[in-house]
Amino acid sequence: MRILFTAAEIAARVEALAAEIARMLPAEFVMVGLLKGAAVFVADLARALDGAGACPEIEFMRLASYGSAKESSGVVQLIGDVPANLAGRPVLLIDDIFDTGHSIAYAAAELRRCQVGKLWTCALLDKPQRRQIAFAIDFVGFSVADLFVVGYGIDYAEKYRHLPYIGVVE
Ligand code: IMP
Ligand code: MG
Repeated sequence: MRILFTAAEIAARVEALAAEIARMLPAEFVMVGLLKGAAVFVADLARALDGAGACPEIEFMRLASYGSAKESSGVVQLIGDVPANLAGRPVLLIDDIFDTGHSIAYAAAELRRCQVGKLWTCALLDKPQRRQIAFAIDFVGFSVADLFVVGYGIDYAEKYRHLPYIGVVE
């Protein structure tokens, strides 16, 4: 494994991101994480947001994206439902990686269909070289090259999510 971001580097960036988010959003909003990849990030970001003076609620939704273990097909589907009672509420949609852009764009569209209030989007990692659609994300932790990464919630065939750092399998 080649380490890209250590646990300490991630923690420092998450803290700065929380401060940035707390400045831009109202104090009360709903974090909606995309399972499973964003679970670890949401857990750390929520606690950092407390330090930054925000008091978010935490919800999750689950998407299925079809494709091989390393390449998404661009076909995204919702598994289960959008969290209930989000109508009119400010929402921060959170994913692990903003890659082709299909997942966040699809989840944002589903949330808008439920008449959420103002919607912001956030991803820990951004791979700008891989984008297939035009979508402006509001908050990004780190920009990375076109590499397949794992760790800190991010998997390869369900492995490596438990790692406290982000790396590239060699
Ligand atoms: P998008 O729909 O192409 O933007 O893809 C986003 C999703 O693809 C993320 O939520 C990840 O689950 C997955 N993904 C994208 N890049 C990687 C990677 O490098 N490692 C593991 N999963 C990835
Ligand atoms: Mg994912």
